[in-house]
Amino acid sequence: MNWDDNGPDIDQRLVDSGPDGEDQAVEAALRPKDLDEFVGQEKVREQLDLVLRAARARGATADHVLLSGAPGLGKTTLSMIIAAEMNAPIRITSGPAIQHAGDLAAILSSLQEGEVLFLDEIHRMSRPAEEMLYMAMEDFRVDVIVGKGPGATAIPLELPPFTLVGATTRAGLLPPPLRDRFGFTGHMEFYEPAELERVLHRSARLLDVEIDTDGAAEIAGRSRGTPRIANRLLRRVRDYAQVKADGIIDRDIAAAALKVYEVDARGLDRLDRAVLGALLKLFGGGPVGLSTLAVAVGEERETVEEVAEPFLVREGLLARTPRGRVATPAAWTHLGLVPPQQGNGKIGQQGLFGT
Ligand SMILES: Nc1ncnc2c1ncn2[C@@H]1O[C@H](COP(=O)(O)OP(=O)(O)O)[C@@H](O)[C@H]1O
Ligand SMILES: [Mg+2]
Repeated sequence: MNWDDNGPDIDQRLVDSGPDGEDQAVEAALRPKDLDEFVGQEKVREQLDLVLRAARARGATADHVLLSGAPGLGKTTLSMIIAAEMNAPIRITSGPAIQHAGDLAAILSSLQEGEVLFLDEIHRMSRPAEEMLYMAMEDFRVDVIVGKGPGATAIPLELPPFTLVGATTRAGLLPPPLRDRFGFTGHMEFYEPAELERVLHRSARLLDVEIDTDGAAEIAGRSRGTPRIANRLLRRVRDYAQVKADGIIDRDIAAAALKVYEVDARGLDRLDRAVLGALLKLFGGGPVGLSTLAVAVGEERETVEEVAEPFLVREGLLARTPRGRVATPAAWTHLGLVPPQQGNGKIGQQGLFGT
């Protein structure tokens, strides 16, 4: 399967991880600006509120903050909110952008007092940069290495106090010495449908789109617990409502639009269903190795592993086992097929269970 045969009109990255182009512009417009506007994540919000209030009361720079959670849950948004709440400027960079310790030194040495440094995908920083970061976080100091080989010297450089906000999709990947240097770690959870409905109503208001309660519920249920996906689906449904109806989004319009974009009632998209379909129809439900599965759907290993699988696992449709990927009984049901134990391995009996 190839995303490119989707045709040029369809947003090919409806449910993927990162924003780009038009997406990025719209996302910026939809970002909540302060903690009060930020929907859900009650725990993280309450904890962060305390951290920031206390720092403000002391007239101090806030402690370093680590935000962990799946893509699209609001890590970047929260980092900007932290800066806004502290009335501080923010500098944004990411782990992969910092190849050498020198890159990091340049950024650190140009920070203003109290500035927020947002380091996205912090787990992908290079090792030497990481080690420099330890010292910068703890002592607000870096050693700049001048020269090479035996003649190289380390020149210590004082830094103004700053707040590092690190974001990572997997806190477990961070080396413990780095993790320990954050004063506060916020774990972002997937959102409840009711919270996503609030996100959708808010976004609709900002985008000047009319949506009713049922329409929002329909989109929320297919958004994989993720505000970024909810916002993206909202825009595609808005397009449909504009072209095919009177522009108002209700349940029927939302369902019809998402059918066009191949997002099903549980939020699975084409890639998800292709992966599940191959697993069930070609490999009898598994176990099958990731590489084989990826070849079967014509995708990269990483795409299957990082884009499709986390959601399928979370939904209880697929399991990762030491022997390979295995479909659960719910996967058979969801695709309208009969699990082997009930159907003697016979597949293709569409419609028995519905989708
Ligand atoms: N709690 C929230 N309330 C409202 N909108 C949110 C919330 N979290 C995320 N969003 C929206 O989702 C989009 C993606 O959020 P972002 O902060 O970029 O996620 P991440 O950095 O975790 O990948 C943004 O456009 C933002 O407006
Ligand atoms: Mg982000």
